[in-house]
Amino acid sequence: MKILGISAHYHDSAAALVVDGVPVAAVQEERLSRRKNDASFPLGAIEWCLGSAGLEPADLDAVVFYERSMLKFDRTLTSTLRAFPRSWRSFPSAAKNMLGEKVWARGIIASYLGVPRRKILFTAHHAAHAAAAFLTSPARRAAILTADGVGEWATLTVGRGERHADGRTDITLLREIRYPHSLGMLYSTVTAYLGFAVNEDEYKVMGLAAYGHPTFAEQVRRVIRRRDDGTFTLDLDYFEFHTTAERSYSSKFLDLFGPARTPYQPIDLETTEGRRFADIAASFQLVLEETLVAIASSLRRETGLPDLCLGGGVALNSVANARILNEAGFDRVFVPPAPGDAGCSLGAALYADRIYFKQPDRDVPDHPFWGPAIDPHELARAATEDGQGLQELDEPSLLERVADDLVAGRVVGWLDGAGEFGPRALGHRSILAAAQPAAMRDRLNRDIKFREDFRPFAPVVPIEYADRLFEMPAGGARLARFMSGVFPVRPEWRESLAAVTHVDGSARVQALERDMAPRLYDLLQAYGRRTGLPVLLNTSFNLAGEPIVSRAVEGYLTFRRCGIDVLVAGNAVVTKRVAAPVKSIKEYA
Ligand SMILES: [Fe+2]
Repeated sequence: MKILGISAHYHDSAAALVVDGVPVAAVQEERLSRRKNDASFPLGAIEWCLGSAGLEPADLDAVVFYERSMLKFDRTLTSTLRAFPRSWRSFPSAAKNMLGEKVWARGIIASYLGVPRRKILFTAHHAAHAAAAFLTSPARRAAILTADGVGEWATLTVGRGERHADGRTDITLLREIRYPHSLGMLYSTVTAYLGFAVNEDEYKVMGLAAYGHPTFAEQVRRVIRRRDDGTFTLDLDYFEFHTTAERSYSSKFLDLFGPARTPYQPIDLETTEGRRFADIAASFQLVLEETLVAIASSLRRETGLPDLCLGGGVALNSVANARILNEAGFDRVFVPPAPGDAGCSLGAALYADRIYFKQPDRDVPDHPFWGPAIDPHELARAATEDGQGLQELDEPSLLERVADDLVAGRVVGWLDGAGEFGPRALGHRSILAAAQPAAMRDRLNRDIKFREDFRPFAPVVPIEYADRLFEMPAGGARLARFMSGVFPVRPEWRESLAAVTHVDGSARVQALERDMAPRLYDLLQAYGRRTGLPVLLNTSFNLAGEPIVSRAVEGYLTFRRCGIDVLVAGNAVVTKRVAAPVKSIKEYA
């Protein structure tokens, strides 16, 4: 069967194509439209998915939308009416912002794609999250926990999945927590309070948390009240997201935590105000972790299953994921490369295949590379027209040459094969650099990513070395496969890994198996032969505020606009002619 999954009209629209039970293509609309977090109907992504498989819309057996849009409309209407008259002004904007065209999803899909309406299906939003987490993992039986801002009504679900020996698949969501009680909304509220962009900058709160102390934890526990079984309710007096589209926190929230930060106010950790913001981030982060650990622990006891699949945008919180692995009693925790709403396109398609159409179980390839592939000729053309020197090298020479560049302190743009599905660069659309000098982190923040100083960079390391350098619990390497867990750097290595060690001594490490990205793995080995330490700094190939590059020409334009010294696509290497002064690692140190 040929099934197209679609996420759209909230944030991070995406399309995914599943053929005979296995993904063949998946991409976020932003990677093609070049509009960050593009939420529009993902026509570009759909066209690319179908085109890459040589299909026309008429060939599809089903098109699956990632939530039941009428139920969501019902939720928006009901919560607005409940809050009336406070909310009377918010409904039109809530309807526009949160629903947009979604209520009419069936008509829109039918008219854009020309498929009959009977072929258009809907999954419950958290069923799509659950399927994206469970059906892309190698686990045959697992507990499932999903958490996000909100879908239709559910904001958190617990359940279990099983791939039976006879080919049947079950996904059962046992219980849910409903809007407006939501961990995602809680975290988005503090994101907005701290002056960052909601649905986009939540990870900045997590990064900032490491600089603070959870001195406001008691106050946060007043805002979110836990029950004995780990479930929770939000005290709605502290929030306004459910009644107005203008502000997510109430004046009572401000009374409790103090004035909010404006987006342009610098965070200076030398000042009391700067430290207060870091402490508030640390406090919300701590309470989020505690809540998730409590829910996961009770799910572990209830199901008796050793594996946990985590889905929903909250599963992007890699500090919380590591705590769940460490403390909730599971042997392994699986987080897919795209646990957020974009990943629901793939989840919805897989759910329809296994559950709705009852197609036989299939192993899903265990990698994130479902996006458009690099065309190295495109880079050759752009570089030649632009008068930049381009070399084409055979594979071994290229790896040796790039390893030399990295040792010399050069920053490398690395494009390889198909793009990642999901927000992390896992070795195909990466900016790579030496992980040793702290000055490298500052240079990347200043000259390349143009972003705040407190944002950490992540290391990538061959899986065989991960345990030696990082304090990985059993099962940690699995969480680190898609960079989904933060672990302590072993104290003796912190100085040698200064550019990728966060202020609290941790790192969001990617433990790379050769099978997943062999060229990057071989580059790490070549680099390790020179330095004794096969670890590189790996950050996504994009500038602040832009989507990760997709095509070689986008990589080239980014390379020309920032401080990247060397660009690699396939076997082509471009070295910037007007390079910034290059310092060796020794000079950085
Ligand atoms: Fe979601």
